Amino acid sequence: MLVQSERRPRFGTLAACPRRAFDPAGMACCVAVSGVNRVRLQLDQVRGAVNAIDPVFLDTPALPCPPLGHMLGCSVTLKVETLNPVRSFKGRGTETVAAMARRKGASRVVCASAGNLGQALAYSGPRRGLEVTVVVARTANSLKLRQIAAFGADIRLEGEDIEDARVLAREIADADGAYLVEDSLDLATCEGAATIGLELVRDDPRLEVVLVALGGGAMASGVGYAVRSLADHVEVIGIQPVGAPAMALSWRQGTVVETDRIDTIADGITGRYPIPEVLDDLLVVLDDVVLVREDSITAGMRALYEHAGLVVEPSAALGIAAVLEQPERFAGRRVTTILCGSNVGPADFARWVLEPAARVAR
Ligand SMILES: Cc1ncc(COP(=O)(O)O)c(C=O)c1O
Repeated sequence: MLVQSERRPRFGTLAACPRRAFDPAGMACCVAVSGVNRVRLQLDQVRGAVNAIDPVFLDTPALPCPPLGHMLGCSVTLKVETLNPVRSFKGRGTETVAAMARRKGASRVVCASAGNLGQALAYSGPRRGLEVTVVVARTANSLKLRQIAAFGADIRLEGEDIEDARVLAREIADADGAYLVEDSLDLATCEGAATIGLELVRDDPRLEVVLVALGGGAMASGVGYAVRSLADHVEVIGIQPVGAPAMALSWRQGTVVETDRIDTIADGITGRYPIPEVLDDLLVVLDDVVLVREDSITAGMRALYEHAGLVVEPSAALGIAAVLEQPERFAGRRVTTILCGSNVGPADFARWVLEPAARVAR
């Protein structure tokens, strides 16, 4: 069942935005295009975030993948965000937010997480002298839990999904005075993710379409903002699973739409209550939001394994899933998709990727 909350005016349709000259280096002083200056992010803050981020998360490979492109009927570039200690893009945001928490005098940080944010905060916090507590739903992926524990964070298990965990994280922050990291609402998490967008524009003067997985929205709002500011002609599309569509439905209706159930294997994308401020940003910076089926997500994981030799978790296959579902939309175009995480356990990977691939090969 969907619950439509208070109607908010939709603003910033891209059709209304004057286009600005393309700056391939991404370095020129940006004249904000109409709409972009209403987004919470600012380009100088995003550029400043680069200095706070451990270089291990930066300048990630953008790999052309002709075999995958051949299969999909378009040119494919894979922005690989999995070759770092936490195996996801979330480290960019937690580096930025941990630096901010430290500057504000915090000694402890707490967050709710489906797993990847928690793991990344568990990496970034202690490097700045911060104790880290991560609240995770009881249904969380056991690999992600093990990784969070391995980085030394205190783990609290709470409720059925990320929304239950968010409530407890807020209570812990109120009771202990710990700095609450609210993913996507905390601007630093979006600024960190936006550095991916800086790199995409800097590294590919022919950038044409960028496909971004959409959960709470830190990555899509950050990447969308950077791309929209520096290369406004590029199409930026957010992707959610049909089984976790809250932000996509909200974007389409221009108002927050809450859902009461999550049903997807893409466990990085499980929010049910979109954050209004993030939705407002996404309404300005995204060109479209699409929903993809579960069988397309596993097909995307298989395609990435077979044609690029890459292991990704379901959320990272959403971009390829979108191309599989709408080949005519992307035919002949230059498509870049962000491979945003690879925290998938061996049993799940075997079930979703290896066993079906072996059956086809037989
Ligand atoms: C692998 C992966 N992809 C995508 C997302 C969604 O990112 P965001 O919440 O910034 O929209 C997440 C969120 O944790 C994630 O872990």
